[in-house]
Amino acid sequence: MDRRTFLAATAAAGAAANAVQAVDAPRKLRVAIIGCGRMGQYFAEVYRRLPQTELVAIAEWNDERRAVVGDRFGVTALFKDVNAMVKSVVPDMAAVITPTRFMKEAVVKCAEAGVKGISTDKPMASRLADADDMVNACKENGAIFAGGNLQRAKWEVQHAARRIHAGDFGRILGAAVHGYGGEISGGGCQHMSVLRLFTGAEVAEVMAWGSPPKALLKKDDGGLNINGRMRLSTGVDCQVFGITQKYGDQRNRSGVDVWCEKGMVSWQWAAPRIYSGLDARGRREEIDPEYPAFPWSDVLADPPLRKSDDYLVSSIQSFIKAVQLESEAELFVSGHDLRQALEITIACKQSAVLGNLPLRLPLADRSLFLDPSPYRMLGGDQTGNVQSNAEAAGKNKPSD
Ligand SMILES: NC(=O)c1ccc[n+]([C@@H]2O[C@H](COP(=O)([O-])OP(=O)(O)OC[C@H]3O[C@@H](n4cnc5c(N)ncnc54)[C@H](O)[C@@H]3O)[C@@H](O)[C@H]2O)c1
Repeated sequence: MDRRTFLAATAAAGAAANAVQAVDAPRKLRVAIIGCGRMGQYFAEVYRRLPQTELVAIAEWNDERRAVVGDRFGVTALFKDVNAMVKSVVPDMAAVITPTRFMKEAVVKCAEAGVKGISTDKPMASRLADADDMVNACKENGAIFAGGNLQRAKWEVQHAARRIHAGDFGRILGAAVHGYGGEISGGGCQHMSVLRLFTGAEVAEVMAWGSPPKALLKKDDGGLNINGRMRLSTGVDCQVFGITQKYGDQRNRSGVDVWCEKGMVSWQWAAPRIYSGLDARGRREEIDPEYPAFPWSDVLADPPLRKSDDYLVSSIQSFIKAVQLESEAELFVSGHDLRQALEITIACKQSAVLGNLPLRLPLADRSLFLDPSPYRMLGGDQTGNVQSNAEAAGKNKPSD
């Protein structure tokens, strides 16, 4: 074959392959954002950059912000809330990032309307029964139910967990939670989600002390500091340390340690550090964890997304995969995970209120609740922290 004939033949083959690809290319998943305030806008930024998804609708309560974000993300199907939305648009996926008080209505409504994949964020509810209703509505309607922007979804956190479960460090001997205080329903959800992931276990019993005493009298979690002990379903014990106010370097320690026969994995709001073996002085030796490179850095290349949005991207990627596979088996964060984190938190407060009484989980009384901070519960508009239209339009500089 001469060169000209060869080039013509390969061009024809290439065109045919492209045609097949065009026909076979999977349809983009149609995504709606419900609650498009500060956090919702980050979700929208990710979804609009991914090749597998397109933003088709936004439900946003605030009239001005709805118009601004519609313009910013090129979405014309704009609604006040989920009820108005599902009358005209039933997307494949819905990301619910309203303030906590409104999450249940949006999740349940989407599930009943036939949305295939629904995600929400932390804390998903304040009352246990509401969290149950959300999980059950998704289950009964066959919807994938994902969690949101949690460190549990961080690429390196997932890989460290896989190594623990593959037995790289031997049997798990113990665990510890550090810095469990200040906002145990909001931020503390991160600790509990990583603890359950690393240990591959549920919390079966808690015994907790809470301080200061006045924080135990409040309906919300503001300022409540917890020290205690959790017994895991595998029989392993986990010590829980609140925020240490006095002791220098320890003050800012916050995270989860899991130690095993041959090593320790320590998550402190970043890629987990791994220790295996001892150095010449008999101290634990940190090893290079050799995490595989984060596969989606291109999504974070341009502002307003920041490097620290890596776990938002991996959480969403795992959610998309779960919807495509119609299986929650490999979700990085599920609605169940959010519910368990809430339940552990409520159990800790209840145990402390009852005088450090050991409490078994699941809790029998599903009417128990713990409100998150007013901002998380009701959103910025109702708590004096209104997002400006300029910021909603994406005109402010990212913070890192
Ligand atoms: N996982 C994380 O790292 C993380 C970070 C920030 C916030 N959050 C959670 O996300 C939630 C929202 O926080 P935010 O900072 O975006 O708050 P925000 O006040 O900036 O935004 C909330 C938006 O939801 C809208 N909204 C309220 N009720 C609605 C309804 N019924 N239907 C549709 N839209 C509605 C509001 O108008 C507002 O625009 C909170 O629960 C918070 O705890 C999680």
